[in-house]
Amino acid sequence: MSSPALHAFGLRRRFRHPSGDVEVLRGLELSVDAGELVTVSGRSGSGKSALLALLSGFDEPDAGRVLLAGVPIDGAPPWHTCAVLPQALGLSAELTVAENVALPLRLRPGGEDIEQRVRGLLTDLGVAQLADRYPGEVSFGQQQRVALARAVSGRPKVLLTDEPTAHLDSGSIPAVLELLRDCASQGAAVIVATHDDAVHAIADRRVRLVDGVLAAA
Ligand SMILES: Nc1ncnc2c1ncn2[C@@H]1O[C@H](COP(=O)(O)OP(=O)(O)O)[C@@H](O)[C@H]1O
Ligand SMILES: [Mg+2]
Repeated sequence: MSSPALHAFGLRRRFRHPSGDVEVLRGLELSVDAGELVTVSGRSGSGKSALLALLSGFDEPDAGRVLLAGVPIDGAPPWHTCAVLPQALGLSAELTVAENVALPLRLRPGGEDIEQRVRGLLTDLGVAQLADRYPGEVSFGQQQRVALARAVSGRPKVLLTDEPTAHLDSGSIPAVLELLRDCASQGAAVIVATHDDAVHAIADRRVRLVDGVLAAA
């Protein structure tokens, strides 16, 4: 049998605080198959963003491992293996909207028409008119959609998104949900940390982060 697209087990992560250490993740396990969309809920501060940072290799666990297609991650994997839409978005301020979205495609030349791919994603997300602006010149909700377009442009095998609808007006949400579903349909393992019932509604599986481990939601 082939390995799941993402398999994390025994994940522990403790943070130091002046008021005492907090062990946010306590032996967490998660397996997500290619083509599966899983939502992670949990109260604010339960550790959803901390979990995504470990799964994306941007942070290291105190214990446990993360495997992508059976291979242990070693630092942050390349965009086409695992892409992340962090809560803080992380767009490059000195690149235009279109250049930001093109970045994963330029880092991995693959024969795809980059301009067409970028234009298509920006159009799908209703932000095509912003292509030549800089991130600082568009609203946070628009930046969020641009950051999602950048995360998916290189067709990652694993897509991790942190509260992707948090700053969107209700009219912008359906296009984001459709894009997340499309990524899964095209074979990506998609993990979405979210409070939003509209996102949970499109999930194949819902889990909840409670006391440092995941339970069925
Ligand atoms: N880099 C960090 N340094 C110290 N504490 C952190 C850090 N990242 C997260 N935490 C702590 O871990 C807990 C979970 O945070 P977070 O993962 O952001 O929760 P959520 O995304 O579920 O709202 C919080 O108590 C937070 O203060
Ligand atoms: Mg968070």
